[in-house]
Amino acid sequence: MKPGRFALLFLVVLSLLVVACAPPATPAPAAQPPVQEPAAEPTAEAAAEPAAASGALSGEIVVGCAHALSGPIAIYGEPIHNGILLAAQQINDQKLLGDATLAIVCEDTAGDKAQAINAFQKLINQDKVVAILGPTLSNSAFAADPVAQEAGIPVLGSSNTAAGITDMGDYVFRDSLPESDVIPNTILVTKDKLGYSKVAVMYGNDDQFTQSGYDVFAEALAGSGTEVVATETFAKGDTDFSAQLTKIAALEPEALIVSALAEEAANIMIQARQLGLDVPIIGGNGFNSPKLAEIAGPAAEGAISGAAWNIGNPAPENQAFVDAYRAAYGGDPDQFAAQAYTATWLMATAIKNAGSADPAAIRDALAAITDFPSPLGTYSFDANRNPVHTPVVLIVKDGKFQVFE
Ligand code: ALA
Repeated sequence: MKPGRFALLFLVVLSLLVVACAPPATPAPAAQPPVQEPAAEPTAEAAAEPAAASGALSGEIVVGCAHALSGPIAIYGEPIHNGILLAAQQINDQKLLGDATLAIVCEDTAGDKAQAINAFQKLINQDKVVAILGPTLSNSAFAADPVAQEAGIPVLGSSNTAAGITDMGDYVFRDSLPESDVIPNTILVTKDKLGYSKVAVMYGNDDQFTQSGYDVFAEALAGSGTEVVATETFAKGDTDFSAQLTKIAALEPEALIVSALAEEAANIMIQARQLGLDVPIIGGNGFNSPKLAEIAGPAAEGAISGAAWNIGNPAPENQAFVDAYRAAYGGDPDQFAAQAYTATWLMATAIKNAGSADPAAIRDALAAITDFPSPLGTYSFDANRNPVHTPVVLIVKDGKFQVFE
């Protein structure tokens, strides 16, 4: 991509961020998801921390938000931020927490490990948050989540999809489907519909999410009997992929599999097309931003990705969310916004169900959430604090995601 175009994109992203710092326009009351009441017959975990009415809560309950609000990863962080603020406003408008209000304090991680650690330390030690939403990247999560675990502060990621995130400890949760839950289905569906037998693979080998996506792709391709004619790597921040793509094009694969974050993925798409490599390009969670199609333009047409959310899902909770987001921000939400919005609702529901702002009680109430109606579907955590729901496969058509069928 031309540097001028990239600078323009970030000016647009930054201006959106400034807008997002103001409270979103008040969404229609009908656009709010139903509140999950404490179970009539509490689970064992809930019984250990008896569910109290939200009437026991008072004052400001401060939840931290540590996300990439600047730099290339703000492509994901900006809609995440929007989703969190929208949910918080609805939660307070509905008085979900009774006399208490939910206050969101945001810190910018810039998609950087050290900044993520600093953000977590500040939120915990200075802002005295009772829980943290974030961070954006798995790479940052592996660096910063141990800070929350050590402090006994629940942390809920809404975009971390690498393997092993929740293995960091019992205070670590995510509502983002891991690559291992999405990619095998993507290979199954695309192989069935496209009928490829030989593919090439490219992945970033300096990032825990892109490496993890590669591992799952490699296993799924091997399991499906697909020949991998080339495996090429790159690093974050690379802009020239012509050496790898020239080598790949000469081997005439029938599809190109890419495990990359947005900026590298967009450049790979553009340069693949420039080199005449006109085969389907298939990716994972890094592809799930509509900004990819905005940056790559026609080169993104036909790009296929596994996803955890589909804007066209007609479920009432999803359509209500989409309508509220459009009303607040004047544009469509993406998967990152949907997952962050859901995460904020899950956290507030845990606070309500705990009837307490004690982080340990919130942790237990979060782990006990089941069948919560959300834009992601009827939502539950599994025993390892990972999400349980079904992935979809999407394709870019006319610059927008559609279900690949
Ligand atoms: N899914 C990406 C990650 O986990 C954003 O880093």
